[in-house]
Amino acid sequence: MRRSKITGMGSYVPPRVVANIDLEKLMDTSDEWITQRTGIKTRHWASDDVGNSDLGLEASNIAIENAGIKKEDIDMIIYATISGDYDFPGTGCFLQAKMELPDIPIFDIKQQCTGFIYALSMADMYVRQGDFKNILIVGAELQSKALDKSTKGRDISVLFGDGAGAVVVSATDINDEKNDPYIYSTHLHTNGQFADKLCCPAPGTALGPERMSQTLIDKGLHFPVMHGKVVFVHAVKKMTETICECLSANNLKMEDIDMFFFHQANMRINDAVGEKLEIPAEKIFNTVQKYGNTTAATIPLGMHDAMKEGKLKEGMLVATAAFGGGFTWGSAIFRL
Ligand code: COA
Repeated sequence: MRRSKITGMGSYVPPRVVANIDLEKLMDTSDEWITQRTGIKTRHWASDDVGNSDLGLEASNIAIENAGIKKEDIDMIIYATISGDYDFPGTGCFLQAKMELPDIPIFDIKQQCTGFIYALSMADMYVRQGDFKNILIVGAELQSKALDKSTKGRDISVLFGDGAGAVVVSATDINDEKNDPYIYSTHLHTNGQFADKLCCPAPGTALGPERMSQTLIDKGLHFPVMHGKVVFVHAVKKMTETICECLSANNLKMEDIDMFFFHQANMRINDAVGEKLEIPAEKIFNTVQKYGNTTAATIPLGMHDAMKEGKLKEGMLVATAAFGGGFTWGSAIFRL
């Protein structure tokens, strides 16, 4: 039976580490407030001369090497980001040029913090359908250039960081459904009624005569807007629900899963999900303390870290869930 499996992982974070106390110099905040409310201690910020696709390239090269293939074996790229190099074309085009891989199809997708799960679902479908053998998924974010780093933007700017994660999804023939490595299923959701609860209005065509103007800048509409408490409540509820949905679709129990990778927005969100689902803490891999929220990069970045630490190994059954702006949410289960 033709299925898809994850054959390689890679990640990259820019070298500059920004601690909570560094943010105290930019805005009225404190290490104590950030740590208590979110669990975040540090995040990485890229330098001025680095763009999103530079981060994506570093992660992609590692993932391709880790998959044991040549870059020429990649037959599609799916690039998940909300902080791309240019407004258009998609950042995947810039990555493709840097990788010197002409002619293969590229998608950019904008599903916020759920971007990786959506990309995984698309890659799985394209591989299963038969025409594609090795699809590169990249989740990369350069949020530090998109944040209001004054006190006005402190509720959001302390949360986000820069980084990239990549995986290679390859075709596989499975004979043993219980033990062979493959993607079991993916589950995707959106509720656009909450689109304005976590968004960045400008540049955009819904706001008047010009998609970008001094008026929009003066109103601060080029910075993200977030209703933190609404996001928090829905993130806990929807990530919990979608993990249950994913287990049920595969006739699995919580204890069958070896490792859980949740989106990393706030340690309190993940603690609440873990408690509701009664998951032992050692099965949940968190990175929010050191990277903050890296949006679409979060899950592949975390998985690669766990692999490097020896906590994520071949043969393990993995569940992953994410929640983000849109609102979007989703989950996946796969054996590595
Ligand atoms: N430093 C210091 N004070 C801050 C601050 C900061 N960085 N950001 C906000 N505050 C202040 C506010 O101005 C407000 O002050 P006021 O009470 O005097 O008006 C107060 O802190 C808000 O505190 P509280 O209501 O207790 O915040 P919270 O417990 O809701 O925590 C978040 C705020 C953002 C940490 C929390 O709502 C959250 O994590 N939400 C989910 C965010 C998320 O996951 N986003 C991404 C989803 S993919």
